[in-house]
Amino acid sequence: MGVQYLSSRSMSGVLFTTLVLFGVLVAVCIPSCKAQANFTTSDYENIQVALNLEYLEAEYFLWAAYGYGLDKLAPYLPEGGPEPIGVQKANLDNLTYDVVAQLGLQEIGHLTILQKKLGKYYFPRVQLDLSDANWAKIIDNAFGEKLNPPFNPYKNSLNYLISAYTIPYVGLTGYVGTIPLLQGEGAKALVAGLLGIEGGQDAVIRTLLYTVKDELVPPYKYTVAEFTDKISSLRNNLSHAFVDEGLEVPKSEGSDGLVTGNILSANNYSISYARTGQQVLETVYGTGNASIPGGFYPKGGNGTIALGYLKS
Ligand SMILES: *[C@@H]1O[C@H](CO)[C@@H](O)[C@H](O)[C@H]1NC(C)=O
Ligand SMILES: *[C@@H]1O[C@H](CO)[C@@H](O)[C@H](O)[C@H]1NC(C)=O
Ligand SMILES: *[C@@H]1O[C@H](CO)[C@@H](O)[C@H](O)[C@H]1NC(C)=O
Ligand SMILES: *[C@@H]1O[C@H](CO)[C@@H](O)[C@H](O)[C@H]1NC(C)=O
Ligand SMILES: *[C@@H]1O[C@H](CO)[C@@H](O)[C@H](O)[C@H]1NC(C)=O
Ligand SMILES: *[C@@H]1O[C@H](CO)[C@@H](O)[C@H](O)[C@H]1NC(C)=O
Repeated sequence: MGVQYLSSRSMSGVLFTTLVLFGVLVAVCIPSCKAQANFTTSDYENIQVALNLEYLEAEYFLWAAYGYGLDKLAPYLPEGGPEPIGVQKANLDNLTYDVVAQLGLQEIGHLTILQKKLGKYYFPRVQLDLSDANWAKIIDNAFGEKLNPPFNPYKNSLNYLISAYTIPYVGLTGYVGTIPLLQGEGAKALVAGLLGIEGGQDAVIRTLLYTVKDELVPPYKYTVAEFTDKISSLRNNLSHAFVDEGLEVPKSEGSDGLVTGNILSANNYSISYARTGQQVLETVYGTGNASIPGGFYPKGGNGTIALGYLKS
């Protein structure tokens, strides 16, 4: 009896102390503990969409410059994911080689920080198709005709830069679309930092192309600006939105409605366009449908969001 009496008294003492401690924790935690969630689950899932693109960029730039990619330069990053299909060293002049090598090495940094920050949400390299045949198909789709000879991005610097025009920009718009969805401070800091460099990469490629925008791309009858305008138009169609502009636009779309030159793609306020995760996938699959893989991703992307669409 005595023991039971004592123990139930100490039980209520423990309960009281627990309640007080809980109250203190709640009072302290509501303002500050929430802010310490640097990455929420949804943050990880949103950032996973971008990881698919970072793999593409890394392999495409590194191979073009060096003739090899992550497996040789950063073998800890692909985590056993399959080798890209058809990727090659490109025939680049010295300046283009110098620039593309830097872009590729930047991507090693991006993947390394993503591997560190995403932890178990990081996934192995996805299957990529970077073959010249696949590129030719994409460019044919942009022009709505079969180019003859088929467009080969690895043939020379100009062709390579035109092909590269298709890549960081989708990442840029994806990051712009992702940031408002993020909750954790760490996630926001990471994606803001990735966005800065992605925007810079796009600007570097566009600037190099801008210097020759009115020249024909041999042996075709189209200028560099026309290639970029067609590619952007295709990407708008695939995204079911107006989020993409080439190097020349109607005056009404130009900066402040005054110019047709369009060194950067932006809306009427010169603010970057955004793509949702779904629009990013629709675009890079080349199918206009995030449930139907294709394009650079013959088996689709990985991560919760991409897999969710692939299942539906
Ligand atoms: C390109 O770089 C190579 C190797 O560094 C050098 O030998 C060559 O002279 C350079 N070509 C031009 C046009 O600068
Ligand atoms: C997707 O990522 C998971 C790890 O998160 C991995 O186990 C799986 O094999 C990956 N799937 C594909 C198709 O790459
Ligand atoms: C959370 O992210 C911020 C911003 O990047 C960083 O300063 C801080 O150290 C991170 N906190 C933890 C617990 O990782
Ligand atoms: C995009 O769609 C519009 C409207 O259907 C069409 O006129 C245009 O040719 C398409 N552009 C490309 C590059 O697919
Ligand atoms: C930009 O403004 C022009 C002129 O007002 C308008 O015609 C055009 O549709 C606008 N573009 C976008 C993307 O909102
Ligand atoms: C996308 O493809 C899936 C699977 O084929 C289909 O069920 C769905 O209707 C398509 N969505 C759109 C918007 O076309």
